Amino acid sequence: MLDFNLPEIPRVDAIDKVRGLTAYGADDARADLAHAALTTATINRGSIRKLDTSVARAIPGVLLILTHDDLRHIEPAGFIMGGGFAFQKFQPMRSVDIAYFGQPIALVVATSYEIAMEAASKISATYHAEDFSVLLDAALEKDYIDQVDTPLPQPMFSDVQAGDADAAYASAPERVDATYTSPAQHQNPMELIATVAEWHDGRLIVHEGTQNAGGLRAGLAKQLHIKPDQIDIISPFVGGGFGQKNSLQMQTVFAAIAARELKRPVKIVVPRTQIFQDAAFRPASRQRIRLGADRSGKMLAAIHDAEAQTSRHDFFPSQYAATTSQLYGIENFRGHEVLVRMDTQTPGYMRAPHEHVACFAMESAVDELAYRLDIDPVELRLINDTTIDPISKLPLSSRHVAECLRRGADLFGWPKRNKVPGSMKRGDGSLVGWGVAIGVYPGLTAPAVARLRVTRSGDVSISVGVHEMGQGVRTALASIVASRLKVPAQSVIAEIDDTRGAPQHLTAGSWGTATAIPAASAAVDAMVAELKKLSPDFDTQTPAQVLAASGRDDLAVEIRQKGPGQPDAIFDQLESGGIAAAGPLYPKFATYSYVAHFVEVYVETTTRRVRVPRVVSVADCGRVVSPRTARSQVQGAVVWGIGAALREVSEVDARFGGFLNSNIADYVICVNADIGTIDVDFVNIPDPEANSVGVKSLGEVAMTGVAPAITSAIYHATGRRLRDLPVRIESLL
Ligand code: MOS
Repeated sequence: MLDFNLPEIPRVDAIDKVRGLTAYGADDARADLAHAALTTATINRGSIRKLDTSVARAIPGVLLILTHDDLRHIEPAGFIMGGGFAFQKFQPMRSVDIAYFGQPIALVVATSYEIAMEAASKISATYHAEDFSVLLDAALEKDYIDQVDTPLPQPMFSDVQAGDADAAYASAPERVDATYTSPAQHQNPMELIATVAEWHDGRLIVHEGTQNAGGLRAGLAKQLHIKPDQIDIISPFVGGGFGQKNSLQMQTVFAAIAARELKRPVKIVVPRTQIFQDAAFRPASRQRIRLGADRSGKMLAAIHDAEAQTSRHDFFPSQYAATTSQLYGIENFRGHEVLVRMDTQTPGYMRAPHEHVACFAMESAVDELAYRLDIDPVELRLINDTTIDPISKLPLSSRHVAECLRRGADLFGWPKRNKVPGSMKRGDGSLVGWGVAIGVYPGLTAPAVARLRVTRSGDVSISVGVHEMGQGVRTALASIVASRLKVPAQSVIAEIDDTRGAPQHLTAGSWGTATAIPAASAAVDAMVAELKKLSPDFDTQTPAQVLAASGRDDLAVEIRQKGPGQPDAIFDQLESGGIAAAGPLYPKFATYSYVAHFVEVYVETTTRRVRVPRVVSVADCGRVVSPRTARSQVQGAVVWGIGAALREVSEVDARFGGFLNSNIADYVICVNADIGTIDVDFVNIPDPEANSVGVKSLGEVAMTGVAPAITSAIYHATGRRLRDLPVRIESLL
């Protein structure tokens, strides 16, 4: 383990960002740009009978219209969770088939955005419509699947099992049996899904915000029947990913084909309402939790049955029981998951995709158990702590749940809580509730190549596979490289999210920091060794001084880093643009991050409006490498947790299909007025085994546990046990 302390530095990209100087993928206003727009399907399932493009074609300024008649040659790029690169296997506009509402059926390219949108709206289709299903509740028997025969990561579908949960549950002195539901939700990052595509001498250059530049390149190459090294993906900043930009989106190939055809750059910005219908989203779920405990509070058994939405064409693997099995040291555990096929686009990873809702279910049940046993919910959680992974029996590389709970309880003032529901009130009579819950998320890591270069003029550049989506990885990279090379943070240039540099593996699963920072740190080690060879006085000199003294212009090093236990062949997988991540199970240990949230709610007596004035969150993410951006990650996650518990739902009506409130006026998210104080603290103990820096995951674990802390606080305030998300005012009347 490296011994160093990192200073808190400001975000290196902050000043540009607040001045609007940061260029995102589609921030391109070149005069020769052509603009594209999509016409989308208005049925949920069936096929196109006839497509009439004549009116659109006659509009002045329309340059090109592409339909399934023109695009049959697109090779599907495959589903990212099935060995492919796209957010789903289904490739629109390759045939007359319609798989979901909002599927693209035509692309219009015009001299302006307005003309393109106008022309796209003038394309009309007649359909052969078939029956469809879009709700968990309305699903037919045949839509339920609990085993999978396609080449997906099979372990994701097997039961999660330890001991004999059914027997232990049956004989447990105290039991809870409750079912929790969560709706479909959409990410809604500020930056829309968008592409600018251009060709230069047979080379395709794509400007697009993505979490997965390597995967985009590989998938596009497949779709277009060209070689990956004929494509550059450039995406220095992402205006929010949250899992939505983790793979090849549907519009990229259309922009590329149109640009090739028109011999000019083509830009497409997908309107938010279309993104709702044609990009990944958090699937709806229904989870039944059964907990058995003895009277001392020791949990003896847990049974977790989860049902989750998937599309007709893909199996989106779920991770509900994989999450809940890691919250406590429960000897007898059984988790079983069922996917339910529906006629939508394929759901996907939305921040803490399964972990947030799995923790909602399990932690709500734990709060119910605490009341049943009359044990303080913090105490009950401490009683059931563990040092091993209860499923694999591997030791945990680190777990500081107890410290998160104790420190959080202390910061929050938890001992002052009167446990009786409805007993705490404000001066205006509104009810006060205090709730607590913990969360867990895997500690994953991806292989990385890191290239570090220093020059005589003082430039320092680090090229490594990671994407900046606002989480602050440029700041973390600058911090570690600058402090260890003794140069100013502003002199460090991070060359990331760009396929012209080091291989760009998918950044997701909260593995970005745990991947890029140890790799950058190892590159610094290699650089220091080289500099010392040039000058024994390195300790008192900057790299630029060493180079000047030894008459060199620059010096570059490259390191390759893989996860514990990964084979060397993993670097081929990295180069191919596929997913090559490791964890949370490593050969000798398992790694998870944890968090504890303490929440105060006010429930107004007349309106029953719920406010969240105060949250205290304490996270165990190993070493905190970038304190400012880490704190900001947790605050953002808590805000989203509040939204997930009280606001966000993608409304579905079985009669119409699609998602009805497909805009951010009707899809209600938290605003500043919804947020009170959010106090964040970190255990900040480096993980001794996960990697050389001791860093674990943070971005997603921070959201887990927020929702059940809120619903438990609402129970404490009102005596109402709410098991369906989001909590609506009508559930409190
Ligand atoms: Mo994250 S939802 O794993 O990009």
